[in-house]
Amino acid sequence: MLKIEIKNRLPTPQYPQNPKFGTQFTPHLLQIDLQEGQTDFNAVIRASQDTEPFRASTVVLHYGQSIFEGMKAFRQKNNTVAIFRADLHAKRFMHSARMLAMPEIGEDVFLQALKEYVRFEKESVPQLEDHALYLRPLMIARDEIVKVGKSKKYSFYILGCVVGSYFSGGQAKPAKVMVCKEFVRAVPGGLGEAKTAANYAASLAPQAFAEKHGCDQVLYLDGIEHKFVDELGGMNFFIVRNGNELCTPKLNGSILHGVTRQSILEIANSLGLKPKEEKLSFDEILEQIKSGVVTEAFACGTAAVIHSIGEFLFLTKKSDAPNSIKLPSETPVGQKLLSELKQIQRGIKKAPGQWLTLIE
Ligand SMILES: Cc1ncc(COP(=O)(O)O)c(C=O)c1O
Repeated sequence: MLKIEIKNRLPTPQYPQNPKFGTQFTPHLLQIDLQEGQTDFNAVIRASQDTEPFRASTVVLHYGQSIFEGMKAFRQKNNTVAIFRADLHAKRFMHSARMLAMPEIGEDVFLQALKEYVRFEKESVPQLEDHALYLRPLMIARDEIVKVGKSKKYSFYILGCVVGSYFSGGQAKPAKVMVCKEFVRAVPGGLGEAKTAANYAASLAPQAFAEKHGCDQVLYLDGIEHKFVDELGGMNFFIVRNGNELCTPKLNGSILHGVTRQSILEIANSLGLKPKEEKLSFDEILEQIKSGVVTEAFACGTAAVIHSIGEFLFLTKKSDAPNSIKLPSETPVGQKLLSELKQIQRGIKKAPGQWLTLIE
């Protein structure tokens, strides 16, 4: 059971158009403080700026017991508001909680808190095209002790952030993506499938290395043979073969179960595409780009939706002569999928299932 108390209501600010992603927070957050084993919860919605003291001994800061989600609420064509695939995000959050030995607050509690929060922040859901209210549920360990072990006390939060296009200027340039076999994001039996702080911490040095080489993103290969594509640091991966075969790496325990990935697979048939989940060898992809079999590659995720890949740069940490290969500049499949997803998210086209949670 969940009880929600509203502490204070601040005026809705004027948000700038196309803000830098992740910078325009809404005035309130929802917070639930909980103990392991608890089944009834009290949430408060309060001003985000009323920050509470955090001791340096807090478990999350040392041992990384932290999980989160990233999803969006969209203004609909009839001016109502809807959250995109909230149920899948709720499931994934519980899965992450289990993997990090954290308490599961339950999908129903998660969804109720989310709906109440979005109802409360409804005026902040932008009208503008390509804009949305980005929602960031987060749970962290709050015990204060410097001994490795799971915490007994936790805090669950939902933050809101007004976002525009993920790309500056609104227009996505095809990404230049680095592949360096020496960097490993996740291994079988590890945390790859959880949306947890550790995976993002592990991606920061490779990302900095990629940027030093003029790349936008890192594509990670499997952590054992360093041959098969897993995913990017914050997005899943697809290729298009022969113009209509849509392939993505099969989920293998090291890949995040992306909601955008799943949505793309579910709408592919209706767009005349053949969806496939396979083990994808990176060397084979390179051969198939050269021979013209692979016609497109793209990354996908909640924040950017679909980002086409224009070039792969592959190198080793020590090499000073990286190799590179370019992809065709036309990306009709990526464009078609992007347009379809955007219309479903705005309620302009019908989703193949109950994908939108309407907020009254
Ligand atoms: C590592 C990783 N893979 C894939 C994704 C894409 O997942 P989704 O489509 O659910 O946003 C994300 C973003 O959340 C991510 O962080």
